[in-house]
Amino acid sequence: LHVAVLMGGLSSEREVSLSSGKGCADALEGQVARVSRIDAGRDLAQVLAELKPDVVLNALHGEWGEDGCVQGILETLQIPYTHSGLLASAITMDKDKSKAILRAAGVTVPGGGLYDRREVARRHVMPPPYIIKPNAEGSSVGVYLVPEGANGPQAEVGADDWTYGEQVLVEPFIPGKELAVAVIGETTGPRALTVTDITPVKGFYDYEAKYAPGGSIHKLPADLPPAVFEAALRQSELAHVALGCRGVSRSDFRYDDLNDVLVLLEVNTQPGMTPTSLVPEQAAHVGMGYEDLVRWMVEDASC
Ligand code: DAL
Ligand code: MG
Repeated sequence: LHVAVLMGGLSSEREVSLSSGKGCADALEGQVARVSRIDAGRDLAQVLAELKPDVVLNALHGEWGEDGCVQGILETLQIPYTHSGLLASAITMDKDKSKAILRAAGVTVPGGGLYDRREVARRHVMPPPYIIKPNAEGSSVGVYLVPEGANGPQAEVGADDWTYGEQVLVEPFIPGKELAVAVIGETTGPRALTVTDITPVKGFYDYEAKYAPGGSIHKLPADLPPAVFEAALRQSELAHVALGCRGVSRSDFRYDDLNDVLVLLEVNTQPGMTPTSLVPEQAAHVGMGYEDLVRWMVEDASC
């Protein structure tokens, strides 16, 4: 079997993807006949048409690689690929649209919505504390927490060099715990693996806390009331199905333990596979090592 691993790419998560891609490609060496490592650029369609791999392992994150564009190229070339298909990728990358679908499916999602970024930079569009985030980025790129008692709104969002879209998502900050659940889309139905409780060493679970070794503490399985643990598993599976995901996905939650409210923040269709990432850690916890997980992804690929 010849597997092409797509990594790098054109998004703000390029470095993260290079790390995910290296991990996946290294894990496949020796497991399949041939592994091609592709730093995906604008010439991707041409590169793949010439290379003719049997399967593509898509280790791209963010814009273009996770939002349906690359999936469209792979559909066109009829090369089986890992993770979600075109439509689920496109919808899930749009946080606001996917919230509407999840809400309709009975999943609890945050309030708030899209606002013009210049308005958000000018005034508090809701009482602090609140979170401002780009509608279609990952790895907490461009995310701001406006704390309780903040003097002014977040000026950066209105800057001329802001590149994350004219509208930004503003949501009430949910106090409590940060949780994540990996889902494996088996043919018999999606299977949530376990729940990880994430404590950033400082501040919130931002880019540094996500990728600096020791930037956050992961406790798995999370120490939660059994009903909340179970709800996180079931809501993740429900979200995976409602958004039409395939292969592996990861749902991120906040759990307000004082008020006992579990809120699903978002689903990720191309979750990180880096040394500090959550999905490989959960897979290992249920007895599926990194190499097994990557092999499963390749076997599950379709188009
Ligand atoms: N967007 C990053 C890669 C994640 O969700 O893991
Ligand atoms: Mg994300």
